[in-house]
Amino acid sequence: MVQTDSLDPKTSAFDLSAYLSDRRQQVEAAIDQALAIQYPETLYEAMRYSMLAGGKRLRPILCLASCELAGGTITTAMPTACALEMIHTMSLIHDDLPAMDNDDYRRGRLTNHKVYGEDVAILAGDALLTYAFEHVAAQTQDADPERVLRVIANLARAVGGEGLVGGQIVDLASEGNPDITLDTLTYIHNHKTAALLEVSVTSGAILAGATDTDVEQLRQYAQRIGLAFQIVDDILDITATSETLGKSAGKDVAAQKATYPSLWGLEESRHQAQTLIASAKAALDGFGELRQPLLAIADYIINRTY
Ligand code: IPE
Ligand code: IPE
Ligand code: MG
Ligand code: MG
Ligand code: MG
Repeated sequence: MVQTDSLDPKTSAFDLSAYLSDRRQQVEAAIDQALAIQYPETLYEAMRYSMLAGGKRLRPILCLASCELAGGTITTAMPTACALEMIHTMSLIHDDLPAMDNDDYRRGRLTNHKVYGEDVAILAGDALLTYAFEHVAAQTQDADPERVLRVIANLARAVGGEGLVGGQIVDLASEGNPDITLDTLTYIHNHKTAALLEVSVTSGAILAGATDTDVEQLRQYAQRIGLAFQIVDDILDITATSETLGKSAGKDVAAQKATYPSLWGLEESRHQAQTLIASAKAALDGFGELRQPLLAIADYIINRTY
C-alpha cells in the first residue's frame, strides 16, 4: 500500500520527496546488510564503496513501487530491488573504466578504478553482478518459486547481449560516427538503459503475482520512462554542472557520443522526453490510486536535476 506518511493530510496530494526518501533509506539499509565485509576485504570494500556512495536508487524504488501496486509487499520485492541496484552499480563501475567512458568521478566521488585500480574495479563489478542473482534466488520470501525464476530469467536477459551489454557495445562502437541513424541511437538507449528500468518495474509486478495484462501495461510505462531517462541523462550532460551531477559533465560531446541532443538538439530532445513521459503516465490509466508513486516518479525523471 502507499505509505500514509507520503500523503499530505491537508491536501491528500502525493508527497514524492517523502516517499523517495523513505524508500531510499529502506533500500540502503537492505544493501548495507546484504554486503557485509568479508574475506577478501579489498573486494568487499570496493563493492561497498560504489554501492553506498549515494545515487538516486531509482531502479530499486521502481521495483518496490510496482510490487506494491500489484498487491505485493516491500519485503517480497526487496532482494530483487537490491539486486537491481547491484547490477546498475556494476554497469556504472564498468562504464567508467578507461576502456569505456574513462570517467574520474561518479556519485560525487572518485570512480571505483581511481581508488582501487582497474583490476579490482573489474572484479568488484563481476562480484556485484553475480551476487545480484544469488541474492534474488536465495533471499526472496513469500513468492511463488516460479515467479522468482521468471524474474531471474528476465533480469539476465535485461543485462546481457540482448540488453545492457548489447547497448553498451553499440554505444562504444558509435563514438565519433557523425552518420548515426535514429534507429541505432534508439537501439543504444533502449538496451543500455531502458532494459534495466523495464525489468525493475516488471519484476516487482511479477513477484506480486500481477496478471499478464497488467505486466504488459507496466512494461509500456517502463519502456517509455526508460528511454526518457537516457534522453534526460544526455541533456543534463550538456546543461548541468559536474558538481550537481556528481559525475563529469560535458563528456558526451568531448567523446563524440551518439545522443539525442547530438542528433536533434536540446529543445527537440526535451520535447521528445516530455512526450514519452506523458505516454508512460497514460499507460497507467487502468490502475487507480495505487499508481500515484509511478506517476510521480515519471514526472521526477523529466524534472530531475541530477
Ligand atoms: C546513470 O544512472 C547511468 C544511466 C543509465 C544514465 P543514474 O542517473 O540512475 O545514476 P545513479 O544511480 O543515480 O548514480
Ligand atoms: C549509461 O550511459 C549506461 C550504463 C551505464 C549502462 P552513460 O555512459 O551516459 O552514463 P553516465 O552518464 O556515465 O552515468
Ligand atoms: Mg557510457
Ligand atoms: Mg558513462
Ligand atoms: Mg551519460
